[in-house]
Amino acid sequence: MATKIDNEALQISILNFLDKNGKIEDSANFKFEGEIIDQLVFLGALNSLSSKDMISYKQIENEKWNVTEEGNEIVETGSHEAKVFNAIPEGEEGITIADLIAKVGPSAKIGQGKAFKNKWISKKGNCLVRSVASIQDKTQEDLKIIKETNNHPDANILKDLKKRKLIDRQKITSYSVEKGEKFSTTIVKQATDITYEMLQNGSWKDVSFKKYNFDAEGIQPKGGYLHPLMKVREEFRQIFFQMGFSEMPTNKFVESSFWNFDALFQPQQHPARDLQDTFFLKDPATTNDFPEDYLEVVRNTHENGGFGSIGYGYKWSREETQKLILRTHTTSVTSHMLYTLAQKMKKDGKFEPAKYFSIDRVFRNETVDATHLAEFHQVEGFIADYDLNLGHLIGVLNDFFHRMGVDQIKFKPAYNPYTEPSMEIFSYHAGLDEWVEIGNSGMFRPEMLRPMGLPENVRVIAWGLSLERPTMIKYSIDNIRELLGHKCDINMIQNNPICR
Ligand code: PHE
Repeated sequence: MATKIDNEALQISILNFLDKNGKIEDSANFKFEGEIIDQLVFLGALNSLSSKDMISYKQIENEKWNVTEEGNEIVETGSHEAKVFNAIPEGEEGITIADLIAKVGPSAKIGQGKAFKNKWISKKGNCLVRSVASIQDKTQEDLKIIKETNNHPDANILKDLKKRKLIDRQKITSYSVEKGEKFSTTIVKQATDITYEMLQNGSWKDVSFKKYNFDAEGIQPKGGYLHPLMKVREEFRQIFFQMGFSEMPTNKFVESSFWNFDALFQPQQHPARDLQDTFFLKDPATTNDFPEDYLEVVRNTHENGGFGSIGYGYKWSREETQKLILRTHTTSVTSHMLYTLAQKMKKDGKFEPAKYFSIDRVFRNETVDATHLAEFHQVEGFIADYDLNLGHLIGVLNDFFHRMGVDQIKFKPAYNPYTEPSMEIFSYHAGLDEWVEIGNSGMFRPEMLRPMGLPENVRVIAWGLSLERPTMIKYSIDNIRELLGHKCDINMIQNNPICR
C-alpha cells in the first residue's frame, strides 16, 4: 500500500464495477489499479457512497492463518524434531546429548521431546538412537499447506501449531457491495450547508445536501472542571448556608500583623510570629493604615490589660504590628468582621447577633512534606450573640460535623492565645481505627472582643479546620502534593466525581 489512494477515483472504480457486474461479492478480492487494497481505505470509499445512498454494503468477517517467523524457518529447513532425528546417525551407537546439542543448537531440546513423543528416537545408555528407519516431517508439511492457503483442513492441527507459536490467526474484515437507491456512475458533490446565495438564486431546490450524521460523537468539551478542593469547598459553603451563615470577604492574602495577630490578643513575642513560621513581605514591608483609636486600645490591653485582664505586661511595639505578612489563618478575616460588626453597633445603637463563615487560602512557612504545604485552605465559622457559652459551641460543632457526615466527635482542651476556653476537635476514623484531629475551636477572649467595643455579654464562639484534610480523606489521596502543585494529575481533576 505504498501509494496514497485517490479516494474519489476509488469510488468511481467501485461504481463502474457495480455497473458492469451488479455486485462486489467480497472486497478482499477487489482490485483497484491492479492491486488488492487495504480494507479500511475501501471502507472509507464505501461510507462516502452509502451516505449518498448510491450503494449499500455488508460486512464479511473472515479469518486467515499466517506462518510466523519461526514457522517459516521450519518450512525452509524442517521441524526441530526432524532436525534432531537427522542429527542422530543410523546404527546402534547413536549420539550423546551433548553432541546432539552441539550439532543442532538450542532447538535440540524441544526437538528431542517431540521426537520421543513421535517414537522416532529412544535412549540407549547415555546415547540417543533412531527407532525408525525414516520419518515424515508432518509439522513442516502442515506449515507448507498453511503458508500456501492461509488455512488447514484440520482444526486440531491449527490449534496445536498456534500453541507452538508457529502460526498466527489474523481476523480480516471485508465487504460485499450492491447498488443503492440512487446508484449512478457519476458522483455529484453534495452541499453541506445552505447558503445565502442558494436561497437568493433558488438553487437550493436542486442541490443535493449531505445527510446529517446523527451517530457522530461530539468532541468532549475541555475545561470547566472543578478541582476536588473546590468541590469540597462548595459542600462546606452549602452546609454553612443551610445553617444560616453569611460568607465573609476573604480577598486579602496580604495582611498586617495587627489584624492577623495583635487584634487577636496574640503577644508580639509569640513563636508563631517568627520568620520560621510566617512569611513576611519585603516590599512593601509595612503598612500604616489602621483605625488609630482601636489600635490604641489594643496596645493598652496587651501592655496593661483591662476588661478584667492583667494583660501581658510587656512593651508593645508599633513597628511589629505594622509588618505586612501573608495571613497565617483566616481568623484575621474574622477579626476584621467582628470589628466591623462592633462599628455597626456603635452606629445603630444596638448589637445584631451574627453568623459568618469563610473558606480561603492561608500561608505558613513550613517544610513541605506529604501532609504539609506552605499554603492551604482554612474553613472558619463564628457566631456572635448574647450570653453564648461552651454548650452552644459544642452543640453547633456537633450539628456542623454531622452535616459533613462525621458523627463521632470528641473535644480536648487546648490553648489558643485568642480563645478561652479552647477545644481541639477529634473525629473517629474507622479506616485508621483512631481518633484524628479535625479542627480547633473556642470562645474568643474578652481581651480580643472588648477593645473592639463589643458589650460584655456578647460572646463569640468560633472554629476552624483545614479544607485539605477532609478533601484528601474523601478522595483517598494520601500525598498532598498529588492534590496541589505541579505533581497534580490533570486527569485526576477531570475524572473525580462530586463527592459527599
Ligand atoms: N485559627 C485557628 C487555627 O489556625 C482556628 C481557630 C479559629 C481556632 C477560630 C479557634 C477559633 O488553627
